[in-house]
Amino acid sequence: MSGADRVDWRSLESTAQVSIPADPLLRVIGQEEAVTLARIAAKQRRHLLLVGPPGTGKSMIAQALALHLSRPTQEIRVVHNPENPERPLVEVKNADEVSSESKTKEFAEGELIEPKNAPVNVTERLGYRCRNCGAYSSPKERICPKCQKGKGADVAANNPFGDLMSGLFEQMNAAGLTGTAGKERVTTTRTRFGKEEVVVFERCGEMIRLLDQDALEKRRDWEKQSPRKVIVRLDRNPFVLATGSSETELLGDVRHDPYGGHAQLGTQPYDRVVPGAIHEAHEGVLFIDELPHLGHLQRFILTAMQERRFPISGRNPQSAGASVKVENVPCNFIFVGACNIQDLEQVLSPLRSRVCGNGYEVLVNTAMPDTEENRGRLVQFIAQEIVSDGRIPHADASAIEAIIKEARARAVKVDNINNALTLRLRELGGLIRAAGDLAMVENAPMITAAHIAKAVERSKSAEEQIKDRYGSYTKGLGTDISSAQKEKSPYYFWNETKDSMFH
Ligand SMILES: Nc1ncnc2c1ncn2[C@@H]1O[C@H](COP(=O)(O)OP(=O)(O)O)[C@@H](O)[C@H]1O
Ligand SMILES: [Mg+2]
Repeated sequence: MSGADRVDWRSLESTAQVSIPADPLLRVIGQEEAVTLARIAAKQRRHLLLVGPPGTGKSMIAQALALHLSRPTQEIRVVHNPENPERPLVEVKNADEVSSESKTKEFAEGELIEPKNAPVNVTERLGYRCRNCGAYSSPKERICPKCQKGKGADVAANNPFGDLMSGLFEQMNAAGLTGTAGKERVTTTRTRFGKEEVVVFERCGEMIRLLDQDALEKRRDWEKQSPRKVIVRLDRNPFVLATGSSETELLGDVRHDPYGGHAQLGTQPYDRVVPGAIHEAHEGVLFIDELPHLGHLQRFILTAMQERRFPISGRNPQSAGASVKVENVPCNFIFVGACNIQDLEQVLSPLRSRVCGNGYEVLVNTAMPDTEENRGRLVQFIAQEIVSDGRIPHADASAIEAIIKEARARAVKVDNINNALTLRLRELGGLIRAAGDLAMVENAPMITAAHIAKAVERSKSAEEQIKDRYGSYTKGLGTDISSAQKEKSPYYFWNETKDSMFH
C-alpha cells in the first residue's frame, strides 16, 4: 500500500541515486500508522491528534495531509448591512459564482479599443488626436509630437464652457451617474439596429474604454450592490498553522477605527473585519502544534469544530470594533493537533473526546526495528534531507553506513530501544547537515563517513561534552562552581564599582 519504491541501499554509490517519492505522505518514514490515519482523515474529513516527542514528523504529517485535500470551493465575504452597519452579513460563494461574477464585472468594465478605432471627434476631445495635424499620440502629451503645436484638446477638457455639451456630460458624470468621475470621458450617442443608444468613451492609458448601453447598465447594477470584502479567498493555502496564536489571530477580530465607522470619515465596520485562523482553515487543515500552550483557547476550537461556524467580533472591549459582530462565519476545518506525551493531560478533555468521536488519536513512534527495509527507508530520509537542504553534497556509501550506525546508537541512547533505528529525525537531519557543511568547507564532492564521525562529535549536547571532559555531569558541575568562586569573573570588578556608586 505504501507505493514507495523499496530502496536497495546496499547497491548505492551515493544518495544521488535515491528517488524521492512525489507524495509528501510517502516522505514520512517509520510512522505507518499515523500516515495511514492521515490519509483517512483527508479522505473522510476526520480530525487527528498526534502525540509524541519533537522532531518525529508530526508537522510533516499535518502538512502532507493538507496537500491531499481537494482545492477549496468556497469564498467567504463580509457584506455591508445598510440597515445595521455593525452587523455585517456573511456571504459564501462557490467557485462558479465567483468566476461568473468576475465575468460580469469585466463586462461592466466595457471594452478597450485603439484610439484609431474611435470616432475622430471623440479622440480629439480625449486628447489622443491632434486637432491641427490629425496625428495620434498619448493623451499625456499636451503638445503634439508631430506638429509641435498644442493639440487643442485641453481647451475643451478644462473649460466646461468651451464645449457646452461635453461640459454638461462631465457634470452628470461628476454627479455619480457612472461612478468614475474624474476620469476623462466623452458621452455621445450612436444608432444601432435602428435604435439610438448612449455610449461612453473613457481615457484608459494609451487605449480608450468604450462602454455601451449594456455595459453601462451592468455597471450601474454593480454599484447598486452593497459593498463587500472578501475575507477568505478561494485561492488559499489549505494548511493553516495556528501554533502560539493569540485570541484574535485564532478567532478573528474587528479592527479599531478612531472615527467609529462614521459614514464619511471612518472605515465601515464590514471593511474592518479580519478573519481568524479557524476561518482561514475553512475546508482545509487547522494545525495546532503544542496544543496545551493554547490554554483556555482550546474551548473555542471545540465550539468551532462542533458548530462549523464561528462569529467574528471585535475582541478588544476598548476598541470601536467591540460593537461589531458578524454571525455564522463558516469554519469547517480538519483539526490536527500535536503535543508531547507529558503535555497530554493538559489537552482539554472534551476536545480530545471530540477528536476521538470524529477522528483519531495516534502515538507516533520514536524508533523503528532495524530491518533491511527500514534501513532503506532511512536512506530515503537521508536523500530527502540533503535534497531539501540544497546546500550540501550527497552522501557516499560509507556515510550512509555511518548514519545508519548512528541511528542505531541513538535508539539505544535516547529511547533505550535495542536493535532499532531512531525516528527522532529532526536531530538526525541536523547531523546530516553538519556533516554536509564539513564536506563543503573541505570542498569534498560527497559526504563521507569521516564527515559523519566529526559531526557526531560536534553534535553532542553541552551536557554530553561535560560528561566527556569531567567523567560525569555532576563532577563537571562541581568544577564549575569552585572555579567561579576562586577566580572572579571578568564582570566582577565592574559589578563592584557599579554597586559602590550607590553607597
Ligand atoms: N518521520 C519522518 N520522516 C521523514 N522526515 C522526518 C520525519 N520526522 C522528522 N523528519 C524531519 O525532521 C523535520 C522536523 O520534523 P517535524 O515534522 O517538524 O517534527 P515534529 O512536528 O514531530 O516536531 C522534518 O521537516 C523532516 O525533515
Ligand atoms: Mg513540529
